[in-house]
Amino acid sequence: MQTVHVETASRAYDVLVGAHLIDSLGTRVREATGARRCCVVTETNVGPLYADAVERSLRAAGLDVAERMVFAAGEEHKTLATLGGLLEGLAERELTRDDVVVALGGGVTGDMGGLAAALYLRGIRVVQVPTSLLAMVDSSVGGKTAVDLAAGKNLVGAFWQPSLVVADVATLSTVPDELFRDSCGEVVKHAVLADEALLDTLTEHPLTERRDERALVDVVARNVSIKRDVVSADERERGLRQTLNLGHTVGHAIEAASDFSLGHGTCVAAGLCVVARAAAARGWCAPKTAARVEACVAAHGLPTGTDLATDELMRYVAHDKKRHEDTVNLVVPLEIGRCEVRAVSLEELRRLIVLGR
Ligand code: GLY
Repeated sequence: MQTVHVETASRAYDVLVGAHLIDSLGTRVREATGARRCCVVTETNVGPLYADAVERSLRAAGLDVAERMVFAAGEEHKTLATLGGLLEGLAERELTRDDVVVALGGGVTGDMGGLAAALYLRGIRVVQVPTSLLAMVDSSVGGKTAVDLAAGKNLVGAFWQPSLVVADVATLSTVPDELFRDSCGEVVKHAVLADEALLDTLTEHPLTERRDERALVDVVARNVSIKRDVVSADERERGLRQTLNLGHTVGHAIEAASDFSLGHGTCVAAGLCVVARAAAARGWCAPKTAARVEACVAAHGLPTGTDLATDELMRYVAHDKKRHEDTVNLVVPLEIGRCEVRAVSLEELRRLIVLGR
């Protein structure tokens, strides 16, 4: 097992990465929180697979486990209505400020369980138990929680750091290949952002081809460390944390323009390649840097570009919540392991997309 310690301005906590950690989850929750009572929040796909084992472990450690809450799986259920149901459920179960929410599942569960914990009684503790690669390497760490509005994804949320994150890579064995591949987009992004050696390893031995527990523990822990370094320095995304949006400006536009038929990580991978090629064309990075990004993305069977028209992409960029007046903060790679946020006008962004296609 590897432990990554995270210290943010609002809370310090450990992220535990290992195989078969669910067995000892209860003890770890007790140690990290001192809580006596908890409630597992999960969804209809993950609940049947792991919730019994999670609750067994919590009970074995002496915790009083309230009746579990299970919501319908899928991003389409990441809504204010589902959140309202969870909040009512916490109240019906009479959870107090001394108690803990255990969010068991992928990114949607982490977002919803985390936000419910952030709001209920003005904030109770949450332990994140991510069961998807994306949730392990990204969304369970750093305290972003949210639900979607009709106007867009993640438009209502809070920064609410967990008290503990337990990433049991054994749970990744039930993640379908396509979803696993999709999550690799964010893994490659982290490597481009901060870890040249990881990029080389991933290119040579794509994660999609070695889903063994040892490789997964190593890669997940390295990803968590990268994210930890960023969120510890900038919890609220005022500066450095924006670099985590590498590949996301174009990636989000591809995701929205494809009506969310393509996965988030797949779109980020394509966006990463577009921005890398554009940066090379502008002379901000060497052509070799862009080629290395593309090689790693391609090695994972992810797209290195998009067929969507530039006008179509620009229509969605204009709606991005991270846009400021007439500029967009675009994250550009300068070399592998070094990126920079640049405010670019929408016109310049259009030119960059054309260059990077
Ligand atoms: N996923 C980007 C962030 O946590 O800031």
